[in-house]
Amino acid sequence: MMEATLTSAKNLKGVITVPGDKSISHRSLILASLAHGRSRIANFSFSKDCLSTMNCLRSLGVEMEIDADKVIHLVGKGLEGFREPSDILDCGNSGTTMRMMLGVLARSHLFAVLSGDRFLNRRPMGRVVEPLKKMGAHIWGREGGTKAPLAVKGTRLRGCDHRIEIPSAQVKSALLLAGLQAKGETSVTEPFPSRDHTERMLEYLGADIQYGDSYSRISSARGLQAKDIQIPGDFSSAAYFLVAALVARSSEITIRDVGINKTRAGLVEVLERMGADVVVSDRRILNNEPVADVTCHWGALKGVEVGGEIIPRLIDEIPVLCVAASLAEGRTVIKDAGELHYKECDRIEAMATELAKMGAHIVPTPDGFIIEGVERLRGARVDSRFDHRVAMSLAIAALAAEGETTISNFECVDISFPGFLDVLRSLME
Ligand code: S3P
Repeated sequence: MMEATLTSAKNLKGVITVPGDKSISHRSLILASLAHGRSRIANFSFSKDCLSTMNCLRSLGVEMEIDADKVIHLVGKGLEGFREPSDILDCGNSGTTMRMMLGVLARSHLFAVLSGDRFLNRRPMGRVVEPLKKMGAHIWGREGGTKAPLAVKGTRLRGCDHRIEIPSAQVKSALLLAGLQAKGETSVTEPFPSRDHTERMLEYLGADIQYGDSYSRISSARGLQAKDIQIPGDFSSAAYFLVAALVARSSEITIRDVGINKTRAGLVEVLERMGADVVVSDRRILNNEPVADVTCHWGALKGVEVGGEIIPRLIDEIPVLCVAASLAEGRTVIKDAGELHYKECDRIEAMATELAKMGAHIVPTPDGFIIEGVERLRGARVDSRFDHRVAMSLAIAALAAEGETTISNFECVDISFPGFLDVLRSLME
C-alpha cells in the first residue's frame, strides 16, 4: 500500500504530454480484434484498465505483440477467430472492459464469464444486460443479472432501437458492438450525448454507422478494415494539470497532443466560465479524433453552476472540478451528476468527505455538490478510496494546501495514469 505525501506548490511550469486516451485505447484493441488484418496501435495507454482489456482479448485467442517503441501489433481475425476462454475473463477495476466485452461476446459462438475486483463487481450491470437481452442475448449474473460475475452464452442477435435513460458511452458502445454483428439495424438514443469514440473509430474502420447528437445507428452491412491507430493524449489525465496550473500560484502548463473531442472536453468550457485562461492551439484531426495543445495559466476563478447536457461531457473530471471550485470565489453548484455514485467509488461522498478534511466548504447533494470557495486549503491525511480519480484530484488539492497532505493507497493511480507523480514532479523542477 503506497501513500503519497505532497506539499503546496507554486510556479509549476512546463510543456508535458500525458498517456494515450484510456477510452480510445480500450476501443482500439477491441475493434482491431474484430477487424480482419494487421493493425499497429501507437501511444496506447498501458494503464491497468487497458491492460485488463488486453488480457481478456489474449484469453480469447487474439494475437498481439508489443515492440520496443511500445507500439502494439495486433492480428485481427474477426469475431469468428475468437476462441472460448478456459478461465474467467478478469476485467479488474475496468467498467469499460466489462461492459464493452459483454456486447462483443453476446453475439459470439462462445461461453464466457466476466468478473472483476470487489469494486467492479459492486457496480450496476443491469443497464447493459437488459438492453442486450432485448436483442436476444443470453446473460446471467448475480442479483438477477445486475451484478458481476456475469456469464454469457453467445448467440445470434437481432437489431433493436434502444432508448437509454442515463447517458453512458459504455452501455451505448456495448449495444453498438452487439449491433455490429446483429441482424438488421441497431440504434441508441440518449437524453444527452455521451462520448462518441466508439462511433468515430467504427467509422474510421469502415463500419456502416451514422451518429449525431444523442443518436447512433449501426448495421452489420460492412465489416471492419484493419488500420493503424494513433491514440491522442487523454484529456481526463490532462485535466489534473489544467487545474494544477489554475490553483498553484504563478503556474503555466501546456499539455501537447491531447484529445479535445467535444464529448470529452466539457471541463474547458466550465473552466472558461469560471474565468480561467485556457488556450487551445494547433487543432488537428488524428484518426477521426480532434487533437490540440492546451495551455492553462494561473489566475483567479469564480463559482459557477454546472448541470444538464454538459455533465456526461465532463463526468470523469468532476472530482478535479471540485478542487477548482473549492478555491474559486463564491459558490459553485454541480447538479445532475448522480451517476458519480456508481463510479469506481461513490465519488460524491468521497470528494465531499475528503476535501472537507482539507478545509473545503463542500456539501454533497443527491446529484452533486454545493461548494463555497475558500482562500486556501490545509494539508490533511486523506483517503483515495482506491479510486484513481479521487487520488489524483486530492493530489492537485494538496498543491494549494498549507502543510503536508498524505493520500492513502495512491498506487490506484495506475488504473489510468501510471507515472502521474513523475509528470507532476517534472513541473516543479
Ligand atoms: C467511459 C464512459 C464513462 C466514463 C468512464 C469511461 C468509456 O462511463 O465515466 O470512465 O470509456 O466509455 P459511463 O459509460 O458509465 O458513463
